[in-house]
Amino acid sequence: MPAQTPAPAGRGITVPDLVSHARILGLGGYRPRRVITNEEICTWIDSTDEWIRTRSGITERRWAGSDETLAFMSVQAASAALADAGVDAADIGCVILATVSHLEQTPALAPQIAHQLGAVNAAAFDLSAGCAGFCHGVALGRDMIHSGSARYVLVIGAERLTDLIDKNDRATAFIPGDGAGAVVIGPSEQPGIGPVVWGADGSQAGVISQTRDWKSFADDPSGPRPIWQMSGQQVFRWASYEMVPVAQRALQAAGITVDDLDAFIPHQANLRIIDAMVRALKLPADVPVARDIAEAGNTSAASVPLAMERMRRDGQAPSGGTALLIGFGAGLSYAAQVVTLP
Ligand SMILES: CC(C)(COP(=O)(O)OP(=O)(O)OC[C@H]1O[C@@H](n2cnc3c(N)ncnc32)[C@H](O)[C@@H]1OP(=O)(O)O)[C@@H](O)C(=O)NCCC(=O)NCCS
Repeated sequence: MPAQTPAPAGRGITVPDLVSHARILGLGGYRPRRVITNEEICTWIDSTDEWIRTRSGITERRWAGSDETLAFMSVQAASAALADAGVDAADIGCVILATVSHLEQTPALAPQIAHQLGAVNAAAFDLSAGCAGFCHGVALGRDMIHSGSARYVLVIGAERLTDLIDKNDRATAFIPGDGAGAVVIGPSEQPGIGPVVWGADGSQAGVISQTRDWKSFADDPSGPRPIWQMSGQQVFRWASYEMVPVAQRALQAAGITVDDLDAFIPHQANLRIIDAMVRALKLPADVPVARDIAEAGNTSAASVPLAMERMRRDGQAPSGGTALLIGFGAGLSYAAQVVTLP
């Protein structure tokens, strides 16, 4: 039985102090079938393969077909994560879908995903924290296991960002990719997920945003529909410099240093941002760094679990190893934590 915080004299609520430690038990991903090379992108925008590679590190990305809906990709990734964890969908207590590309205001998509998976005993909700959404979900899942709100939590990061872009806009069209990644978080004898370091800066809301809101479009549909826009250089500076202390605080919160890491898995926004963070963190040269962006583009909330999935598949990051995760993006929002890899 877990330790109990005693109720105060008289009537009060009794809560367990810590039901269980938590860790990631299983991992899965789904990548759309269609590969879009830089050459193909350059048939729509005035650019070159070399410019795109040099500025972003992207060589190709996957774009979802009409049958590869957000729900479909999420269910594929989640099914793989459940199988990997050996956990029954009916035992999941909460399904969290991190996304910014579910295009219906209501209802949320997570309940439909839970239904399709057979997660009949789960609470389910969507979480909007841009490219930091997955790391927010991991933080919530950990705390739910700690507190006993759920025994197993499914965290999915999934995006169809290509529904949100103008593919002829050369400032953004080469960046996004689609896909889904998922993890199952559950009880553990040892701590397997460190404390989250997270935050937001709404004063920079306009740095990654939509060109207009859906209401203004409904009121006046004669203009172009809302699309994704960003101030690339501002995002670049913020991510390259301000996310480093966040990552350092996450290491500190977990009681480790960069020398203890077996992998660094940052959000896949831009290879130059990743390399700048690696240098500023003084990451030892033998620590593998996720560079899934080269073949996946920026998949926003899906990027960290997809990068984790590739590193494990390629044998770059050992199961049971220690990894630093950090997500950052629209909001502006960020979240970082240290995890034991599944
Ligand atoms: C988007 C990004 C790759 C652009 O790179 P950059 O070096 O900042 O490029 P700039 O926007 O300053 O543009 C530099 C020049 O390239 C041109 N350019 C812009 N897009 C281009 C393209 N697709 N192909 C060729 N040239 C392009 C510009 O017009 C500009 O030309 P000029 O110097 O003659 O005016 C970069 O800012 C970035 O990656 N930012 C972060 C993006 C990000 O992480 N977003 C997601 C956050 S989660």
